[in-house]
Parts: sequence; C-alpha cells; structure tokens
Amino acid sequence: MSQQVQGVVARGKGQPVGIETIVVPDAGPGEAVVRIEACGVCHTDLHYREGGIGEDFPYLLGHEAAGVVEQVGADSGALAVGDRVVLNWRAVCGECRACRRGQPWYCFSTFNASQPMTLADGTPLSPALGIGAFAEKTLVAAGQCTVVDTSPDPAAAGLIGCGVMAGWGAAVNTAPVVKGDTVAVIGCGGVGDAAIAGAVYAGARQVIAVDRDPRKLEWARGFGATHVVDATGDDVVSQLRALTGGFGPDVVIDAVGRPETFRQAFDARDLAGTVVLVGVPTPDMTLELPLQEVFGHGGATKSSWYGDCLPSRDFPLLIDLWQQGRFPLERFVSERIGLGDVEAAFEKMHRGEVLRSVVVL
Ligand SMILES: NC(=O)c1ccc[n+]([C@@H]2O[C@H](COP(=O)([O-])OP(=O)(O)OC[C@H]3O[C@@H](n4cnc5c(N)ncnc54)[C@H](O)[C@@H]3O)[C@@H](O)[C@H]2O)c1
Ligand SMILES: [Zn+2]
Ligand SMILES: [Zn+2]
Repeated sequence: MSQQVQGVVARGKGQPVGIETIVVPDAGPGEAVVRIEACGVCHTDLHYREGGIGEDFPYLLGHEAAGVVEQVGADSGALAVGDRVVLNWRAVCGECRACRRGQPWYCFSTFNASQPMTLADGTPLSPALGIGAFAEKTLVAAGQCTVVDTSPDPAAAGLIGCGVMAGWGAAVNTAPVVKGDTVAVIGCGGVGDAAIAGAVYAGARQVIAVDRDPRKLEWARGFGATHVVDATGDDVVSQLRALTGGFGPDVVIDAVGRPETFRQAFDARDLAGTVVLVGVPTPDMTLELPLQEVFGHGGATKSSWYGDCLPSRDFPLLIDLWQQGRFPLERFVSERIGLGDVEAAFEKMHRGEVLRSVVVL
C-alpha cells in the first residue's frame, strides 16, 4: 500500500521547483508517515536546487517541519499515531564510535527512512536532509520524529527542526558562548538570528550582528543584537575590533559560509578566540590561510553540524523557552505560504525580504 500526495520537487540544477505527485509508501519497520502541518523555507533548500549539495535530482525539498504522526511501522519505539512532532535530520544511531564515546550529537551514522518515496512514474526521490517535507505527507525514520508540543503554532515550532536549532546551537553548544563573552554573528538570516538569540541566552556581554542588508540588521536587534556592523561598509574586521576595545570578539560565528566571511571570522576574533562555521559552503569553495597565523592566533575553528544538537534534549528546551516568552520563535515567521509558493519564497530570500517563509498545509 502507498498513498499519493502533493510535494515540491527540484528536477534539475537551477531549474524552478514545482508541485508534483509523490508516492509515499506505508511505514515499514522503524519508519513513520507524518502528516505535515508546516515547513519553513531554508537556504539549504535553495542550495539543493542549485546543485550545491549534490546531484541526486530529483529532490523532494523541505526539512524544517512540524506535523502529526499518521502511521508507525514495527520497531518504532514509543512513537505513536497522533503524536505531534518536529522532524530532525540527525536521528542518532546509538552504536557508532561517536555515540559510544558519549557524544551522540556527532553521530557518524545518522539514518533516514529505508524505503524511497517516488514520483508517480516510480523515479526515486532524494528527500532534502532525509526529510522532504514540502509535501502533505512524508516518510521518515521514527528516530527523526521528536515529540514536542507544537500546538501553539506549528509554523513557528517546525523551524526548530533546522535553521533555528543550527544557529542557536552554534552559539550555545558548539562555541560554546559563556557568560561575559563578546560575540559577533556574520550573516543575519534565520540561522544567524538564532545564533544571536543563543548568544544572549548563554550570557554574552555584547552581541554584534554583521550583514550587508540594513533590514536584516534591524531584525537582528529584535533577537538581542547589541551592536550592528554594515558589511558593505568599511572593513568588517576593523569594525569588529573597534567595537571590542581593539581586540576582536571572543567568538565569531559565520552564518554565511563563504571563504570571505570565514576569513573575516578567522581574522576578527580575539587571540585564542573561537570561529564557528555554521553556514554551509558549496563544493567549489576553497580557502588558503597563512599557517603561521593559524598557529599564532591560537584558539579554535569549529564546524557546527546542526548546532551540535541532540533533538531529544534541545527541541523540548527551545519549545519551553518559547512558551515562557524567553525565545521569540514566532519572529522568524515572516510569511505563511502555500506549497505552490516555494519558488517565489526563494526569490524573496534572495532579495533579503524574509527570515522564513513557512509553507502551511
Ligand atoms: N550547519 C547547519 O547545520 C545548517 C543548518 C541550516 C542552515 N545552514 C546554512 O546556514 C546558512 C544561512 O542560512 P539562512 O537560512 O539563515 O540563510 P539566509 O539567506 O536567510 O541568510 C543569509 C544572510 O547572510 C547575509 N549575507 C550574505 N552574504 C554576506 C556577507 N558577505 N557578509 C555579511 N552578510 C552576508 C544575507 O544578507 C542574509 O541576511 C546557509 O549556508 C545554510 O545552508 C546550516
Ligand atoms: Zn551514532
Ligand atoms: Zn535548513
């Protein structure tokens, strides 16, 4: 048995995405079918459609989603039909060398559903980040379903499933920012603004937002940025130093993921400071660094996969903070759109008009 639903598919590199009929198999062992209520448009979806992540077209896009479990297969643990969930794209295995040494957020063997979803003609789909949630229903591994109370607003809650978690976790888990730190965040989209909110939560004394778009800098203040730097202006590195007593921030988070922004982060941080790369580079990008500066600057450069989160630990925490009025999750929702509006949402993202367009089903 299977069901046919509507979903948003990227057929080829750079081609506009469109709605297609998707065949969703019944949940097999360790799998679940989830009825999607809302799914945010993340820059990573655009990376997929531009061929920046791989060439496994056709992609079923969408991965920042909240929904309700409709079917569970055998061996799906405690997950039950009717559970409200946020989908995660790193279901940890519990058995790999990272999991065994007690660092499951690095799990080297995360998994997705084993059966493929397909187009109506049987062509297998590659679901974005193993989720594929710009669709009425999707098939995932049961471990990708994190049970949390999404009922106050599934459109906001679903954003915890990717960009918000990645940004917040980059500051709180990966860096980690500690009380009294000075922090800069380069790139203030959904990911960067979540990093700003995370830095505030962790007790940063100063949080500097850096972006080329004045609108983004204004929004960043709403998430707790204490200072802003216009990246189109004078040298970003000297501006960051000037704002931090001439030394540079203790932590610089690159939420763009380009060689030039990484280099700014690398150069701007204080001696022994930390660079966190949470923006995702594309395969064509390379970086050359003077090795003597790598040594002489000290500190650390770290990548943040999904904000080094553990969905079971961090999603409920963010939901609690949101419900207590301590995390403005709903501010990330710039507009609510339909499945047919994803291509237009990419354009708005490109023009900097939105933090998150959220498909609501
Ligand atoms: N590491 C992870 O697990 C993870 C998870 C989700 C998203 N991401 C990545 O994070 C990045 C940001 O995602 P997003 O959804 O926030 O994107 P977005 O497009 O909403 O935001 C990017 C922001 O960066 C700004 N920007 C672009 N170039 C800049 C520059 N040179 N200097 C300063 N600002 C600049 C833009 O004006 C924009 O505000 C993407 O690369 C995305 O793929 C990573
Ligand atoms: Zn593992
Ligand atoms: Zn994402």
